[in-house]
Amino acid sequence: MNIPGIRKAVCKMRPYEPGKTIEEVRRDLGLENIIKLGSNENPYGPFPASIEAMKREMASGNRYPDIAFEEIKGLLAQRHNLKPENIALSHGAEGMLQSITKAFIEEKDEVIIPSVTYKLYEELSKLMGAEIVRTPMKDNAVDLSAVGKAVTEKTKLIWLCNPNNPTGTHFNHDELVSLLKDLPEKTWVILDEAYAEFCPKDELPDRSKLIYEGENIISVRTFSKAYGLAGLRLGYGAARPEVIRAIDTVSEPFNANRLAIAAGIAVLRDGQESYTKALETIINDRKRMEEKLHGMGCNVTPSSTNFVFFETPYDCDYLSKQLLQRGIIVRPCSIWGCNNAIRVTVGTSEEVDEFLKVIKDILNNATDA
Ligand SMILES: Cc1ncc(COP(=O)(O)O)c(C=O)c1O
Repeated sequence: MNIPGIRKAVCKMRPYEPGKTIEEVRRDLGLENIIKLGSNENPYGPFPASIEAMKREMASGNRYPDIAFEEIKGLLAQRHNLKPENIALSHGAEGMLQSITKAFIEEKDEVIIPSVTYKLYEELSKLMGAEIVRTPMKDNAVDLSAVGKAVTEKTKLIWLCNPNNPTGTHFNHDELVSLLKDLPEKTWVILDEAYAEFCPKDELPDRSKLIYEGENIISVRTFSKAYGLAGLRLGYGAARPEVIRAIDTVSEPFNANRLAIAAGIAVLRDGQESYTKALETIINDRKRMEEKLHGMGCNVTPSSTNFVFFETPYDCDYLSKQLLQRGIIVRPCSIWGCNNAIRVTVGTSEEVDEFLKVIKDILNNATDA
């Protein structure tokens, strides 16, 4: 990038590479029927309660939203054993991750990032001038003891995705507590829990307990995955009230829009039935995918999310291209250096059937080749 005046940190960044879109594949390959299993969206959303609420809210589109976000914060607080003052809203989890970097990172601060995790942590941290410290994985899971060993007095943020994207693994409360107990005063753990709803609650850290105990953690969650609202861009952070005030100070003032808020409130308040049904279906289909892929000889990492990470003997870019030619978008994991791994979203039950049929066919032919 050679633009006079642009910040050096921007030149060092790589644009975020999202999964392929249906429109892109339709244009490039001229295919009609495309199954998108590359971005971990919820195929069953938005739920009817959200759609109805958005329709009603459209007429107020000329007005700014309630800047205090009172109703949605109240519902979230009630559901998650938090207080409204523990919550800050954002445009998707991404917006919250961005605000956190603005609030915390100074030039040359160190940030710790496990080597196979959500890509955005690195780019956002680099933009603020942070030095990136990578830690190794252990059996495709985040290795918290390696993370602990990498901590120095210069560590400002530790980025932990739990459950982890792209490998789907998770760690529990006690494992996190052992990391937290030896941290320097200025070191903060960012617990990105974008996929938390797909994992049994008692297997994840109890974030509200840790926040009330005064630990240096900020939990980040989203309505994009389990709640089926990825296109609406709604997320939030949870932390001690003084941290929430700092984050709100650096965020743009109206950092969630009316339609998203209405949809979010509706699914929390009235959408329980369809939300739970979708979640159950996705978790059952995930299990089915894991078993079938395992049966095809793939090395499958048990998932606590709405996607499955599996390894084959073949190059993942090659396999993904083969799938794409048959109209199925998945995420090859070569961008993480996992050249034999694919991350595939659990779509509808019919999409899962089709994916399993096509991958079996491709793997059989690849074996014969
Ligand atoms: C781990 C993780 N964090 C954050 C995000 C961003 O989510 P949102 O759509 O809420 O910005 C994603 C999206 O895929 C994700 O996988």
